[in-house]
Amino acid sequence: MKPLRPLRALEWVGERDGFLRIVDQTRLPQEIRYLQLDNVEAVREAIVQMRLRGAPAIGVAAAFGVVLGMRQARYQTAADALAHLERIVNLLRGSRPTAVNLHHALERMYRVGRAIITAADFRPLVNDLVPRLLAEAKAIWDEDRLMCRTLAAHGAALIQNGMGILTHCNTGALAASDYGTALGVLFTAHEQGRRFTVYACETRPLWQGARLTTLELKLRGLECVLLCDNAAGWFMRQGKIQLVLVGADRIAANGDTANKVGTYSLAALARVHGIPFYVAAPSTTFDLSTPDGSAIPIEQRSAQEVTQPFGLTMAPEGIRVENPAFDVTPADWITGIITERGLVQPVNPSTITACLGLTCRSEKSIP
Ligand code: MRU
Repeated sequence: MKPLRPLRALEWVGERDGFLRIVDQTRLPQEIRYLQLDNVEAVREAIVQMRLRGAPAIGVAAAFGVVLGMRQARYQTAADALAHLERIVNLLRGSRPTAVNLHHALERMYRVGRAIITAADFRPLVNDLVPRLLAEAKAIWDEDRLMCRTLAAHGAALIQNGMGILTHCNTGALAASDYGTALGVLFTAHEQGRRFTVYACETRPLWQGARLTTLELKLRGLECVLLCDNAAGWFMRQGKIQLVLVGADRIAANGDTANKVGTYSLAALARVHGIPFYVAAPSTTFDLSTPDGSAIPIEQRSAQEVTQPFGLTMAPEGIRVENPAFDVTPADWITGIITERGLVQPVNPSTITACLGLTCRSEKSIP
């Protein structure tokens, strides 16, 4: 397999009759297989099965899922249309619980759809519904691209020649639109001419670090070393790591940050070794309606992912397994959060609101 250009998690192809094209990430790195999703059920399945994953990418895909769902639906009255919209939004909302970008995107799509449906003169507006939803989904996609590029430019200043930078899971173009978050910071620093080594944790049980991050780094020509998750501390101890840089799935109002399971342990290790620990995330990853990390819902995934990764039996049958997909790093262990609106440092409720304003408070209008 020899891909010639960096991969993209998703792309809307065509216009009103178009479809969502994604790379099936469960097949990477062995095979680059594109899927054409033309109905909401297929979008939900792709998110649940993690054919498409990463907080920002899930939000963008779900927005297009609403377009597809409303395009499929048949309705005669405003009440019917609204009921369809609510059903579709709720179908997608249940796909993955932790990444808040999904909820923000669905909230936005729901408001646009509801405003059209409940307008006094529904009949003439109804033909406009799918194009207007499509325009909103494209706006969410465009904004995500811009947020990634902007936060990457802010964060790149932290990267110096000769550094060893440890990262976890996958936060690149496969996890967001265009460039990604934490990996976007590294891509930008590399484009600016700085040279450093990225240590990528393999990220069990689904191996996003080994399968996806190293692939993205390789395609863009960055120097990369793959580590078993449990080797991270030892590399810190040997002085090989000068910075830890990760993404986020949901950041609470006080700065507590949910990210891929294992992030908490890396933050604890960074603390012990006096290594700066940064999070890179767009403002759509903040959830100011969640006061702290204890209120963040943590997705629990199947035992089979651990006992039979990729179909290989690795544990005796019937063994009890716990498989949380995420953990929460306390705000005061985080040196700074890189956003498209600037750097939040130190991390606390007032620096967060000063940087972001109150615009990321999720007002929940979906019934
Ligand atoms: O379960 P995943 O693969 O969706 O988890 C992804 C992560 O934890 C990423 O670090 C996070 O979504 C940030 S992506 C820019």
